[in-house]
Amino acid sequence: LEKSALKKVRGAKTLAELEDVRVELLGRNGEIQALTKQIGTLPPEEKQTFGKAANKLKRKVSDEIEARKAELKERELAEKLAREKADVTLPVRLGPQLEGRIHPLSQVWDEVTEIFADMGFEVAEGPDIETDENNFTKLNIPEEHPARQEHDTFYFHPKDDGSRPLLRTHTSPVQIRAMQERKPPMRIIAPGRVYRSDSDQTHTPQFHQVEGLVIDETTHMGHLRWVLEEFCRAFFEVDDVKMRYRASHFPFTEPSMEVDISAEAIGKQDDWLEILGCGMVHPNVLRGVGLDPEKYQGFAFGMGLDRITMLKYGIPDLRTMFASDLRWLRHYGFSM
Ligand code: PHE
Repeated sequence: LEKSALKKVRGAKTLAELEDVRVELLGRNGEIQALTKQIGTLPPEEKQTFGKAANKLKRKVSDEIEARKAELKERELAEKLAREKADVTLPVRLGPQLEGRIHPLSQVWDEVTEIFADMGFEVAEGPDIETDENNFTKLNIPEEHPARQEHDTFYFHPKDDGSRPLLRTHTSPVQIRAMQERKPPMRIIAPGRVYRSDSDQTHTPQFHQVEGLVIDETTHMGHLRWVLEEFCRAFFEVDDVKMRYRASHFPFTEPSMEVDISAEAIGKQDDWLEILGCGMVHPNVLRGVGLDPEKYQGFAFGMGLDRITMLKYGIPDLRTMFASDLRWLRHYGFSM
């Protein structure tokens, strides 16, 4: 019996087979258990020897099963590892539909940053959640100013000190931060997200602007025009862009202008397309950040990034820019 039992154990080729063998040998109706049952029928002088032998056999078989189990486990693991081995040095195989695409807005964000970097502008940053002070007050928009209404501001709950944080309605608060952190001369741009409670074909509650700010001792409107025209030539990749400056009003610039580009410049039939607001930094703003307006002057502009993206790449509906539709991205996106 011992021989045949051990042979069975060693013959088990998988863990499942081994379990069957274990039940067959040691289970309640198993062969070895049957031996134990026989003890009762034996004459007293044989009981002890027989019992001992049966127990010994039982132990031996179950030790053998444990040993075989460990062996099989190890082998199954080794086989599994061998089966699942991946060659990480193989080149990636991706279908065209799985290849990532760069969103046109990200593409434009980079293009814009590069063009201004070539003109000596540094990138400045500010948080999306701003203080009322940076978004309005320090930009010469005091508490009761009507411009506050025009901005459709998203406010947070007032804080304990009574101040109300908000989602910045434009990138202009980065002007304030830059002027407080740096010393003139400075040339910065600040691309970023902005928020207004507004939604239709040409407005989304979140959109993007790029702010520009130049402060120096002799900066004037000629510099502003040169920078904007140089930018448009580079961005729209045309030698000559017709641009139109319309008198406008922003509390933080004086004079203020809105700038349109002629649509024919970008191969469209429409007449004029507005792309930005700009002007010379208002003396009150300079004073507010501790700069002497007698000594320093500068210009600022704020351009709609989504706007110029749509113009350059012929995207008709602003909302599709934020819809995360993969088919749209495959059509308008850029390969990596
Ligand atoms: N912040 C203005 C807006 O959001 C744009 C602007 C920026 C105008 C800088 C003048 C100077 O409409």
